[in-house]
Amino acid sequence: MSATPRHILVTSALPYANGSIHLGHLVEYIQTDIWVRFQKMQGHTCIYVCADDAHGTPIMLNAQKLGITPEQLIAKTDKEHRADFADFLIEFDNYHSTHSPENRELAEYIYKQLRAKDYIATRTIQRPYDESKQMFLPDRFIKGECPRCGAADQYGDGCEVCGANYTPSDLKNPVSVLSGTKPIAKDTKQFFFELGKLETVLRQWTQAGTLQSGIANKLDEWFTSGLQDWEISRDAPYWGFKIPDAPGKYFYVWLDAPIGYMASFKNLCSKKPDLNFDDYWKADSQYEVYHFIGKDIAYFHTLFWPAMLHGAGFRMPSAVFCHGFLTVNGTKMSKSRGTFIQARTYLQYLNPEYLRYYYAAKLSDGIDDLDLNLEDFTQRVNADLVGKVVNIASRCAGFINKQFDNQLINVPADSELFKQFTQAMPLIAKDYEQREFSSAIRQIMALADSANQYIDAQKPWAMIKQTEQRDNVHLVCSMGLNLFRILIGLLKPVLPGLCAQSEAFLNIAPLRWTDLAIPMGVQRINTFEPLLTRIEIEKVTAMVDASKENLAPAVTQAPTPGGEAIKPEISIDDFGKIDLRIAKIVTAGFVEGADKLLQLTVDLGEGNTRNIFAGIRSAYDPKTLEGRYTVVVANLAPRKMKFGMSEGMVLAAGPGGKDLWILSPDDGAQPGMRVK
Ligand code: 2FM
Ligand code: ZN
Repeated sequence: MSATPRHILVTSALPYANGSIHLGHLVEYIQTDIWVRFQKMQGHTCIYVCADDAHGTPIMLNAQKLGITPEQLIAKTDKEHRADFADFLIEFDNYHSTHSPENRELAEYIYKQLRAKDYIATRTIQRPYDESKQMFLPDRFIKGECPRCGAADQYGDGCEVCGANYTPSDLKNPVSVLSGTKPIAKDTKQFFFELGKLETVLRQWTQAGTLQSGIANKLDEWFTSGLQDWEISRDAPYWGFKIPDAPGKYFYVWLDAPIGYMASFKNLCSKKPDLNFDDYWKADSQYEVYHFIGKDIAYFHTLFWPAMLHGAGFRMPSAVFCHGFLTVNGTKMSKSRGTFIQARTYLQYLNPEYLRYYYAAKLSDGIDDLDLNLEDFTQRVNADLVGKVVNIASRCAGFINKQFDNQLINVPADSELFKQFTQAMPLIAKDYEQREFSSAIRQIMALADSANQYIDAQKPWAMIKQTEQRDNVHLVCSMGLNLFRILIGLLKPVLPGLCAQSEAFLNIAPLRWTDLAIPMGVQRINTFEPLLTRIEIEKVTAMVDASKENLAPAVTQAPTPGGEAIKPEISIDDFGKIDLRIAKIVTAGFVEGADKLLQLTVDLGEGNTRNIFAGIRSAYDPKTLEGRYTVVVANLAPRKMKFGMSEGMVLAAGPGGKDLWILSPDDGAQPGMRVK
């Protein structure tokens, strides 16, 4: 280990502000957090920044669907993500957003630099366009039949059945996911980043030991097939930053997303005067910058991103560290099997440190997938953490607490056993540094075995019965707790919570790596409390059950009289959330431009009126509705519709068309009819 203090900036990929964190995401955040905590423990300056990736069409459309603004969606997700990360003990030095003033300023600056240096080209191209929605469609918003294997319902960027990669124009019978209509090809002028002009510098960078071998090989293939210009603009309507001097054009989300790394760091610099942005990002910076990412986004991080940085006059990353995907019980995470587990669901059942430990025990520096086998997870955590590590403390602490008035005595640092521990430290440090966490954990557990064998051989529980052996018991238990302290210190990057509890029990200051080789000496400890409990398999099963989505095929479900399948079962708690109220229809009218809707003003009692758009035009003349009663879902979140805000939902029964009934028993509604 070099004794020279290093200055390191570390990032994890920015999660989209559009969905929840799940156990797949956590592989990366846990991997990065362990590495960062290790560097901090070494005494280096290591800064870990991240942010929500807040732009792009999916976020715009999702917000629309929820009847909220993109800013509201971003704020909601930001809060949720921060809580999930904090509860998994992921300790960012800063968490920001790509929808921030710093990111806008940096994105514009980088773009203008690239333009000034002649790396930006303008070309008119054809893009798929949804005429009914009046917008250009991203690849993922077009579906059709795979041109290679003919599989139906495939996205515009590739086939999930045969793995073919293509563009939306290759799809057979393409339709817009938004409207179901066939997209047309429409001319549009776009901006391109001419990546090929930076090929030489990119080749040098990729060959300078910055990449893992699997990724470097992939890059060779990309170089061989030729670097394509990268389209960095999108047309309105789009959710992102406007491109300077280009009305109606926006930066593509992937242009400003990695700039979000810099923006988050810049935001941190504004809060910490001792940090200087240029020290880390100037072209000739000697400081280190590392990006941890999944292998699926290597192209963006090993070609576009370093090219953008270099082209705009900044330094390139010191390295990009890729990891593989998460599988659960040997296969892709699955909602129907309950193995697509959200971070929050996990936390409702299990201690986050169990997962941190298991991931650490399986992570290496490669890009192979990591399997979370839930049975192995349970056994391994119980055997290693509870059965080996914590067991050492619980076997020794009772004697020190009860027989020796909480007092530890000196232990010989030159004993064979103590030396075995301290001599292993540099190797374990090397493993952490090289992200070979599974090897580090193997070595630490081998040490834990040695400590347990020592206690087994000395048998303090037997010795304590012989008065002349009391001093020996004191020594053995003091040694046991000293070895426990080293183990906890070695595991601190992985298990910061367990380590903090253990430091409190041992009555010691927060452990640094260099403290570990020096024994504790004569001092008092606190009363031992159980530090970690075993994983109960019932909790794991309950977590999986809670993650299960009922996706049974419709054919197995009983049809209603209306002929449609019954929706998946909900619990009584789910049902209890719905506030159903009788409402009086005060006014009803047609909605211009909507052939299915009526606009209703309903009274929920005591003058509590609501505006609701209801899809019952086919069945009712609005004038006949005024004064009648209906059932309303009163606590449905307001939805912004094209025609205005809808503040509830009117319930009507019947198969549709003319046969739709609102409340009136003599109107023909029959029990069992589907509520529409
Ligand atoms: O793939 C993703 O989830 C992206 N949101 C990652 C962005 S990483 C960085 F470039 F911002
Ligand atoms: Zn296919």
